[in-house]
Amino acid sequence: MSHAAVIGTGFNVPSRTITNQDLTQWMDTSDEWITERSGIRERRWVEIGDDGKTIETGAEMGAAAARMAIAEAGIDKDDIDLIIYATLSSDVFFPGNGVFIEDLLELNTAGAMDIRNQCTGFVYALAAADGFIRAGTAKTVLIVGQEIQSTGLNLSNEGRDLAVLFGDGAGAVIVQATDEDRGVIASVLHSQGRFAGELIGEVPMSTVKGRITQDLLDQGRQFPFMNGSMVFKHATRRFCEAIKEVIEKGGVDIDDVNLVIPHQANQRITDAVGARMGLSKERVYSNIAKYGNTTAASIPIALAEAVREGRLQRGDLLVTVAFGSGFTWGANLVRW
Ligand code: UT7
Repeated sequence: MSHAAVIGTGFNVPSRTITNQDLTQWMDTSDEWITERSGIRERRWVEIGDDGKTIETGAEMGAAAARMAIAEAGIDKDDIDLIIYATLSSDVFFPGNGVFIEDLLELNTAGAMDIRNQCTGFVYALAAADGFIRAGTAKTVLIVGQEIQSTGLNLSNEGRDLAVLFGDGAGAVIVQATDEDRGVIASVLHSQGRFAGELIGEVPMSTVKGRITQDLLDQGRQFPFMNGSMVFKHATRRFCEAIKEVIEKGGVDIDDVNLVIPHQANQRITDAVGARMGLSKERVYSNIAKYGNTTAASIPIALAEAVREGRLQRGDLLVTVAFGSGFTWGANLVRW
């Protein structure tokens, strides 16, 4: 049966770098606190113009990453028959960014859908693309993971636990149907909605007349909320479970896995997962120091960088794994 192979990768991040030191102009924090607790040293935030708007849209960032992936794949862009766009920060409330990128790339009416799975968006998107390809619904799929987090953060002391972690960026992959011994071997997907309130962005909300009220704004409910220590504990456990489950499903052993690309949530989570799984540092990819947590973009950015650093060779076994808001978590096992 045909299944999905990754044939191209790309990424794009804003040029504006915000160091940990830069954050101290808005909140009581320090380079030491942020580095120790998260491993993050800097992140990219999109530039804001004089009109208060970002100088580029999220879809434009995604399109730049997609162009790089299309070039690496060596395909004609019109071969793309489906776009799967993962983001929690779509440019507008609706439609999702999938259609905006269809337009920017002039993709001639390719199907477009958005996945709203926050930090696990890319893992769900890759599983979905593989499923569509196995079902014969699509042959060549563009997956984009992209976020603009910076415009929605509370930069005061009240929001500092979250504000220091998140960054903007986009990553993209092209996956294509193949019958060869490469590509997605297995995926596992999970959720536990009883924890939805532990990491949530509420406003604008359809259950409120007008979707946004002064009262909600006064309460700061337009900003994301995170129960950091609870997320941390669940994440560490679920990352490990998902890795074990996906390799078992794929019939391989952890020693066979050449590279694990975890969602870049926190270096301490990555290190704990690596230690529990018996993985050496070289086998667990990390670029969180440079970009922070870019949510749905973090795995495809890391994947594109790993490819450019020669960290993946044809035939290697790759695991991508993520945990995030929902709670949702999952993993993919891929033969490169
Ligand atoms: O992708 C999934 C999404 N999110 C995550 O994976 C994040 C998971 N959670 C975490 O990474 C960690 O919980 C954090 C990095 C967010 C926080 O680390 P922590 O070790 O759990 O710290 P804490 O929340 O227990 O806070 C310790 C102290 C508190 O002060 P008090 O109450 O002990 O006086 C906080 O107010 O650190 C304070 N604090 C800060 N201090 C300086 C919180 N944020 C900051 C800050 N700078 N930015």
